[in-house]
Amino acid sequence: MSTYVRFRHFGRIGTHMHSVFAARNVGRYKSSKPEDSQEGNPLLKYLTMKITATGPITVAEYMREVLTNPLKGYYMHHDMLGEHGDFVTSPEISQIFGELIGIWCVSEWISGGKSKSLNLVELGPGRGSLMSDILRVFSQFKHLLNTCDISIHLVEVSPKLSEIQALNLTEKSTDAKYEDRSSCYKMGITKTGLPINWYYNIQDVPSGYTFYIAHEFFDALPIHILQKIQDEWREVLIDVDPEIQHKLRFVLGSSSSHIAKTFIKGFRSHQLHNVLLAPGTADLTADVDFNFLKRMIGNYVSFLGPITQSEFLRNMGIDLRLKVLLENAKDATTQQHLIKSYDVLMNPNKMGKRFQFFSLFPHSRLEQTSNVKYPIAGFTELETS
Ligand SMILES: C[S@@+](CC[C@H](N)C(=O)[O-])C[C@H]1O[C@@H](n2cnc3c(N)ncnc32)[C@H](O)[C@@H]1O
Repeated sequence: MSTYVRFRHFGRIGTHMHSVFAARNVGRYKSSKPEDSQEGNPLLKYLTMKITATGPITVAEYMREVLTNPLKGYYMHHDMLGEHGDFVTSPEISQIFGELIGIWCVSEWISGGKSKSLNLVELGPGRGSLMSDILRVFSQFKHLLNTCDISIHLVEVSPKLSEIQALNLTEKSTDAKYEDRSSCYKMGITKTGLPINWYYNIQDVPSGYTFYIAHEFFDALPIHILQKIQDEWREVLIDVDPEIQHKLRFVLGSSSSHIAKTFIKGFRSHQLHNVLLAPGTADLTADVDFNFLKRMIGNYVSFLGPITQSEFLRNMGIDLRLKVLLENAKDATTQQHLIKSYDVLMNPNKMGKRFQFFSLFPHSRLEQTSNVKYPIAGFTELETS
């Protein structure tokens, strides 16, 4: 099987964009998850009806339905993150993670010339923990940032998660009136006093000097899967199994598929797991193919990375931050918790090596770096497109 990663969210790349993306390399960091039965699964019923009516669907369409179907999509109506959810992400494990990203943003803002305004955009912010830790750092650097007009923009498709984000990040937020929803669907003021808005689509985020942050986001976006049969690329589709009730199966599309014609280059091989069981009840992810991203965007922007999470966090000073937190910790239990969280983030057998950091900049930013005047924090290896 071969896959490529869709990257429709790059539509707005402009010269004022600095961004840091972190993505899983292989597999989410799971907490335990009970199996759900096929029978009675409403999304399966809906997909079966749809496929029976209009024919097999692409894996991308399947992923989109399973993850973001408004009624039963996996992300839409429950909180799957954290210790009691289905998987744990780095910002949920330790405050240090978001704090170091906050410092990265402040450092980039300074190196980029202390712009008078800054849009901080997060794609798929989960519970809002990463943004909350970043904003705490911004407050600590208030004396520097007070010349800058900062606004926060969250791109989030899930009504449930956007509610949790609003609770975590604001004292009070309001839903936009239905007729105004062409831009943002929720708005408020953060607990640190900054304007914050929510959007369904990245295209709706206002333009300007912008930092984009995406953590475990690209791997949640729909992908197409292609398979090479002799010399021909065919798209893998999902169909109803004619032999077994309540069961979907993979089939091969015709060679004339638009995707098969357009995207035959440099794919990576993947094994398929049984992602067709109980749609909407479990997470679906795809490995992010950074080399593909680099090839597709290299002419437009410069990039650094990918480097492993442990490299990035170490370069950002995680050891020093841990030391300070340990010194200030009130008791042994807090210290043990800090050490354990550090280990999960940094240990190469846990998240340290499995997760990658990748960063994109306007070409002009890295030209400055080659003069070694304003180095980019966190990335030691400098690689330009
Ligand atoms: C795996 S979670 C990561 C959450 C958070 N970044 C973290 O690391 O804890 C993916 C996030 O992306 C959101 N999401 C998934 N697909 C999306 C889409 N197409 N547009 C906007 N948000 C999306 C989910 O609702 C969720 O908030």
